[in-house]
Amino acid sequence: MEASLTARDRVGIQDFVLLDNYTSESAFLDNLRKRSHENLIYTYIGTLLVSVNPYKELDIYSKKQMDTYMGVNFFELPPHIYALADNVFRTMQSEYNNHFILISGESGAGKTEASKKILQFYAVSCPSTKLLNNVRDRLLLSNPVLEAFGNAKTLKNDNSSRFGKYMDIQFDHQGGAVGGHILSYLLEKSRVVHQNHGERNFHIFYQLVEGGEEDLLRWLGLERNCQHYRYLVQGDCAKVSSINDKSDWKMVRKALSVIEFSESDIENLFAIIASVLHLGNVKFEADVRGYASLNNNQEMHWVSKLLGIPTQVLQQGLTHRKIEAKTEEVLSPFSVDHAVYARDALAKAIYGRTFNWLVNKINESLANKDSSRKTVIGLLDIYGFEVFNVNSFEQFCINYCNEKLQQLFIQLTLKSEQEEYEMEGIEWEPVPYFNNKIICDLVEEKHRGIIALLDEECLRPGEATDLTLLEKMEEEIGGHPHFVTHKLADKKTRKTLERGDFRLLHYAGEVTYCVVGFLDKNNDLLYRNGKEVISFNFYCKKQVTPILSWLVVTQFKSSLVGLTEILMSKEPWYVRCIKPNEAKQPGRFDDVLVRHQVKYLGLMEHLRVRRAGFAYRRKYDIFLQRYKPLCPDTWPNWRGTAAEGVQRLIKHLGYKPDEYKMGRTKIFIRHPRTLFATEDAFQICKHRLATRIQAKYKGYRVKGDYLKQREAATKIENCWRGLMARKEREKRAWAVKVIKKFIKGFMTRNQPSCNDNSEYLAYVRTNYLTRLRDNLPRTVLEKDAWLTAPPILQEASQLLKKIYIRHMVKKYVRGITPHRKAQLLLKEQTSSMFKGKKENYPFSVCRPFVDTRIGETDISIKVLQMIRHEHIKYSVPVVKYDRNGFRPRLRQLIFTQEAAYLVEETKIKQRIDYSSLKGMSVSNLSDNFLILHVTCDDIKQKGDLVLQCDYLFEALTKLCVIANKQNYIKVVQGSVRFDIQPGREGFVDFKSGQESMVYRAKNGHLMVVSSTHFLCIDFKR
Ligand SMILES: Nc1ncnc2c1ncn2[C@@H]1O[C@H](COP(=O)(O)OP(=O)(O)OP(=O)(O)O)[C@@H](O)[C@H]1O
Ligand SMILES: [Mg+2]
Repeated sequence: MEASLTARDRVGIQDFVLLDNYTSESAFLDNLRKRSHENLIYTYIGTLLVSVNPYKELDIYSKKQMDTYMGVNFFELPPHIYALADNVFRTMQSEYNNHFILISGESGAGKTEASKKILQFYAVSCPSTKLLNNVRDRLLLSNPVLEAFGNAKTLKNDNSSRFGKYMDIQFDHQGGAVGGHILSYLLEKSRVVHQNHGERNFHIFYQLVEGGEEDLLRWLGLERNCQHYRYLVQGDCAKVSSINDKSDWKMVRKALSVIEFSESDIENLFAIIASVLHLGNVKFEADVRGYASLNNNQEMHWVSKLLGIPTQVLQQGLTHRKIEAKTEEVLSPFSVDHAVYARDALAKAIYGRTFNWLVNKINESLANKDSSRKTVIGLLDIYGFEVFNVNSFEQFCINYCNEKLQQLFIQLTLKSEQEEYEMEGIEWEPVPYFNNKIICDLVEEKHRGIIALLDEECLRPGEATDLTLLEKMEEEIGGHPHFVTHKLADKKTRKTLERGDFRLLHYAGEVTYCVVGFLDKNNDLLYRNGKEVISFNFYCKKQVTPILSWLVVTQFKSSLVGLTEILMSKEPWYVRCIKPNEAKQPGRFDDVLVRHQVKYLGLMEHLRVRRAGFAYRRKYDIFLQRYKPLCPDTWPNWRGTAAEGVQRLIKHLGYKPDEYKMGRTKIFIRHPRTLFATEDAFQICKHRLATRIQAKYKGYRVKGDYLKQREAATKIENCWRGLMARKEREKRAWAVKVIKKFIKGFMTRNQPSCNDNSEYLAYVRTNYLTRLRDNLPRTVLEKDAWLTAPPILQEASQLLKKIYIRHMVKKYVRGITPHRKAQLLLKEQTSSMFKGKKENYPFSVCRPFVDTRIGETDISIKVLQMIRHEHIKYSVPVVKYDRNGFRPRLRQLIFTQEAAYLVEETKIKQRIDYSSLKGMSVSNLSDNFLILHVTCDDIKQKGDLVLQCDYLFEALTKLCVIANKQNYIKVVQGSVRFDIQPGREGFVDFKSGQESMVYRAKNGHLMVVSSTHFLCIDFKR
């Protein structure tokens, strides 16, 4: 932090407290000048902010700048009004107390601008909600309205506030701006009827005339020309380049509607403003008796219309005075001068009351109806010390106000600070300062003060005049060192004073007041029927006040007492505005002018006190309460006295002896940096503590949740287990019952159906039927694999079997193709021929027949050419045994439509016409021999054929069918005779043996031995 403190000092010194030669006014001015030439308009004296009017727009008020200053410690960034505003806000938030910012400086020094900047900062930095934004907008927009009605161009400032303003901004505990309240002080009403050269009336008049819509102006009877209105042209500067009345008018109209002025309120408001302009134009002429008479009926008509006052009453009020004489009221006519006076007084009164009404109305709109406790930041933007060439009653009041505020400043800073050191027993060398109490007393002392004398003179019977007042003052306070008049002054001074002047030596300098008008202005006199006139207007009906309180200065005095009380109950912060030159020019720094302001603003004294004193002090208990977390000994609780606790704490924090002092009830810390270091440490520690507390709390919460969940889980578990156990018990009981019943059912299964076995039997039934369903024979051939039925289902099972087999057969039959049917018919033929006759027949049953065993491609083309015309029906390879030697030869046996052919490759070896086929013989054994017997008449013809064919049954059945010789098959036992040639016979003998063999027996017969073993193999093949 130290580093950042020094790093920031680029131009001059940012805090006068760091100025080496802090007692030198020149050094002070040098620093201010240096900085203001670099547009660094802000400089601190501790927490007091000195602001020099730059007279030009600077790029230091952007939203970005606001963000930069938000929540940052005071001295960590270059001085700025935002830093002060933020610090006030944060102190209010953390200490939960009320504050005010006193903005002072002379006219044109930038007070109003400063207060606007602060308001804008809060508008951006405070938490916002829709509701809060509403309040925020009203707070912000109350400014242009009040400025329109209460500000005017003066010689010193084009936007000079002609009233004092104190504004409270109310914050809720979260820091949201929730409401506001405005107090206004002593509006300079005389401006309504009179302006010095180069000055203007209140802005609103010009705004209305310049910016008002055509319809509105017509309705108000106004013309768009300021020159037309007497009240607007006295200063001879209705138009000013720095002021844009037209756009300001728009702004005011918008603001009025945001602040919730109804349309009729707005109409009436402008009607009154217009009526003042019309009133100004009312002219009087002297009648023959010298009394005032009215002949400007047009203006009177508008005034009466706009104010709603009967013309008669108005006319009488302006030209006559009502005098009460015992029980009677007598009207006494005015001279022209008197009438003009009465007219102006009426105009001032109307405007003054309208202004008060306006403030009240704004307050209604800003009021927060919620009764919860709020903290407040007050902004006091009050007229600065004023010295003109001719100073009147208004300047007297304004300068008195400044005296009072200076008193307050002294009380709250210089005096109280030094008294505090004394009280706390802190070693201290008193800083001399000028206490302006003596001047305040001169003005406000009871019975003897200027105000008392003024009031007395206003109220006393007889001919009181301004001059009698002056005499009275000379008489009563003539000897006062701060009061001089022409009569009282020495020779040299007398030259500078007129006879009607008196001079006050204010704390800020000498001011010469011209006593003329003091009595009138204090009386704020409205003749009796003037009041009646005014009471016609609805805004003023309620304002009936006793005569004493009409005395302006007394009213002002008591409002200042009220203000002082308001301020004394709050923590003060100061912005001192300095005007660098009278010409309103940027970049000009008038040393004499600034030196004078530095002096009367008490900046040097403040610096000396600050420098010699301590930047920060707090009661031990408050300090300890805030910072105790920083030391393990004091955290969480310190048992001893607060002072001991603080001692222990700062020892732990390592404060050096010259950095602090221990008072009787408070600790005093010399440098802000020491406090900031502590505060920074606290902020870090706070987060750590918050995290710890959060963690503990979270732990506590989670543990609680966990315990709850665990309890719930146990409960659920218990219930669930109970439920499951009950279910299990029920299941077991049920199972026991079922098993018992099953056993009983099993035991009585063969008895007729009864209670004991009915369920068992039903079970057996379903069980059997389901098993049967899953194990049904897949083909008719498997019909014997039918599931054995339990006794009670024997009959049903038989029936089912029958039905099922029938069904299968039906299905099978339906599935047979014509080709297959033909095959099966052939098989049936075979069966009828061989079943039970030939040993190896059963093994052939399962071998399906095929159309042919030799494809046409395997038959020689030559042979085919020879026999194709007879249509080949079937071909099969055979082994032919020679008739003589019984040598085996491989041949093809081909059946055509007409004959059987024995073919040896390309040669037809033998043709047997079916008509010559007289029989076929096979053995009853397992061999595959067949003998085809043919009719043989010719010796040259070949005889019977002895063949062996692997597809014996197929070939023979085909032959029988093709040749239509079904009954020609002979199954023989033992031996077959055949014709080798006509007349020459041979024999084939058949027998069973171990091994299949074919050989020529000794007896010349062909012996065919067939083995059953071979058959089996063959079958498998
Ligand atoms: N911070 C600033 N930046 C730019 N211009 C400024 C600043 N402060 C003041 N001014 C200029 O100075 C003018 C006068 O300022 P302001 O109205 O605030 O003075 P004042 O102290 O309120 O005077 P009065 O006592 O007459 O009301 C402003 O109109 C503006 O032009
Ligand atoms: Mg101002």
